[in-house]
Amino acid sequence: SQSLPLGVTTNNGKVADAVTTQKLTILYGTHTGNCEALARNLASSAKAQGLEVEISDMASFKTRDLKKITNLAVLVSTHGIGEPPMQAEELYHFLHSKKAPDLSHIQFSVLSLGDSSYVDFCQTGKEFDAILEKLGAQRISPRVDCDVDYEEDAAKWQEELLKSMAKHSNATPAVEIKNNGETAASQPKYSRKNPFEATILEKINLNGKGSSKETIHLEMSLEGSGLQYEPGDALGVYGTNSPSLIEGVLKTTNLSDTQLVQGHNGEKPLSQALTYDYELSPLSSVTLSKYAQLTGSTRLQNIMADNEKLLNYLHGRDLLDLLKEFPYKLSATDLLSVLRKNNPRMYSIASSQAAVEEEVHLLVSVVRYQAYGRHKEGLCSATLADRFRVDDKVKVFVDKNTRFKLPDDPQAPIIMIGPGTGVAPFRAFMQHREACGHEGNSWLFFGDRNFTTDFLYQTEWQQYLKAGILTKADVAFSRDQQQKQYVQHKMMDNGKELYDWLENGAHFYICGDAKQMAKDVDRTLKAIIQQQGGITLEKAEEYVKYLQLSNRYQTDIY
Ligand code: 2AM
Repeated sequence: SQSLPLGVTTNNGKVADAVTTQKLTILYGTHTGNCEALARNLASSAKAQGLEVEISDMASFKTRDLKKITNLAVLVSTHGIGEPPMQAEELYHFLHSKKAPDLSHIQFSVLSLGDSSYVDFCQTGKEFDAILEKLGAQRISPRVDCDVDYEEDAAKWQEELLKSMAKHSNATPAVEIKNNGETAASQPKYSRKNPFEATILEKINLNGKGSSKETIHLEMSLEGSGLQYEPGDALGVYGTNSPSLIEGVLKTTNLSDTQLVQGHNGEKPLSQALTYDYELSPLSSVTLSKYAQLTGSTRLQNIMADNEKLLNYLHGRDLLDLLKEFPYKLSATDLLSVLRKNNPRMYSIASSQAAVEEEVHLLVSVVRYQAYGRHKEGLCSATLADRFRVDDKVKVFVDKNTRFKLPDDPQAPIIMIGPGTGVAPFRAFMQHREACGHEGNSWLFFGDRNFTTDFLYQTEWQQYLKAGILTKADVAFSRDQQQKQYVQHKMMDNGKELYDWLENGAHFYICGDAKQMAKDVDRTLKAIIQQQGGITLEKAEEYVKYLQLSNRYQTDIY
C-alpha cells in the first residue's frame, strides 16, 4: 500500500489552525496484519483528536521523508527468532547504517508486538526504540512491549501517546479510544478473550503406518457462532496442560490440587487453574526470570545473564524441570505468579467457508519428544491429538491475517510453497477457487519426509489436478533417497517456468517453517530470477521487493 495522507479534520468539525496543527506519522511493520490494524486504529483516533495523520507501511516509506517527520509512531512486530518482519527490514537496516541521518527534529513512540515465550521478546521494537533515541529523536511517550494478547496494552500505549500529543497542541483528546478501530456492534461475538466452543466432527492422522511424523486433520463445527474466516486466516486454539505434567508439578511443590486459587475467571481448585489457565510447557524466559527473582538463585541469575546459556537452558525444558533442578518452597500463589497465562496457539486454517460453510479444518503437526528424562509434548497439539475426541468441544477464535490472501483477481496465477503443515492454507486456497469457480492457474510445491507415509492430502491434490483447479504440482520427499530433496530444489529444477509464471503476474506464497525453509526458498527465488532474468543479484532483490510491495509475495511462516 502507498502512503496515504489522510488529511485534516477536528472532532468539533472546525478546520484546525494550520500553524498549530500537529502532524503524526504512523509507520507499521507487520507480519500478520496486527500492527497494521492497530496503526489504522491509531490513525482514526488521532484524526478524531484533530491531528494531521500520515500512515504508511514501512516497506513503502521513503527514507528521505524522515526529514519531514515531526511526530512519529512506530508499530512493529518481531519474528519468533528476534528479527524484524520482512516489511520492516529495509528501514531497520537504514536506521542502523552509516547513512542514518540526525533525527533530533523527531518526537516518537514505539509499540512493539511479540511473544514472551521467545527469548528475544519484542526485540525489533526495542531496537527501533533504541536507534531512534540514538539518532537524536525524543520520546513522546514510553515504548510498550505487548505479548500475544496485545489488545489492552496497545490501547494503553495509544491513549498515552495521544494524551502526550494533546498536551503539546491545541487539540482536545478524542473522547473515546476504541480497542480495535471498530464499533462495539461490529465486533464479532467470539474472540481471543471470549472463544467459541467448537465441536470436533472428525479427527484423522494423515500419516501412514510407520511414519516418523504425526499430522492430524481436524474438522470442527462453528455452527451458531457466526464466526467468519477467509482463506489465509488462522484459528486460535486453547489447549490444556497434560495431566501427568500437572501431577508432577503438584508432587514436586507439595501443593494440594484442591486448594482454591485465583484462576482466570475467578476462584478455582489449583489443579483446574493449572489445567486451563497457565502455560506449563515449554519453559518461557519470562517464567525463568520471575523464578530466578523469587528464589534469589545465583545459578539461575548466571544463566539469565548469558543469552546463549539461557537459550540452551530453555531448550527442551518445561516448568517441572525447573522446579526439580532449583527446588524452592513455593506457595500456590508464588507458583502462579511466575507462570505465563495459557495462550492460544494459532493454526493456519486448511478450509474455505465457500466450500465447508460452518466448518473449519486444521492441519496439526503433533509435537512429541524426549528431553531431560521425561516424555514432552506440545501443549496444544497434544491436547488435540490425545485429550480431545470427536464430539468434545475446543475453545477457538478466528485470527485474521490480512497479509496472506488470495489475489483479488480470480484469474491471477498463484505459486504456493508449502512443505509439511505449511500446505494447510493452500488446501483452503484450492477449496475456495473451486467453490467460487475462480480460474487462475495454480502451482503447488509440497514436501515432506516420505512419499508412502507423509503425502498429506494426496488424493485431494490429485482430484484438484484432474479438475484443473490445480494446474501443476511438484513434490519433494526429503528422505526417500540419499540426497535430501526439498521444495526449493524442485523450484530450481523448474526455474524457467517459475520465472515465466512470475512474469505473467503470478502471486508467490510461502507457508511453513520460518527458521530455515522460508529463508532457503527466498534465496532460491532470487537465484531463479537472477538466472532466468539474466540480471544481477541486486536487481533480483529489487524484483522481489517489487513483488512484496505489490502484495504478490506473501508469507505465513512460524
Ligand atoms: P527433513 O525433515 O527430511 O530434513 C516438511 O517438514 C519437510 O520439509 C520435510 O521433508 C523436511 O525435511 C523439509 N525441510 C527441512 N528443512 C528444510 C529446508 N531448509 N528447506 C525446505 N524443506 C526443508
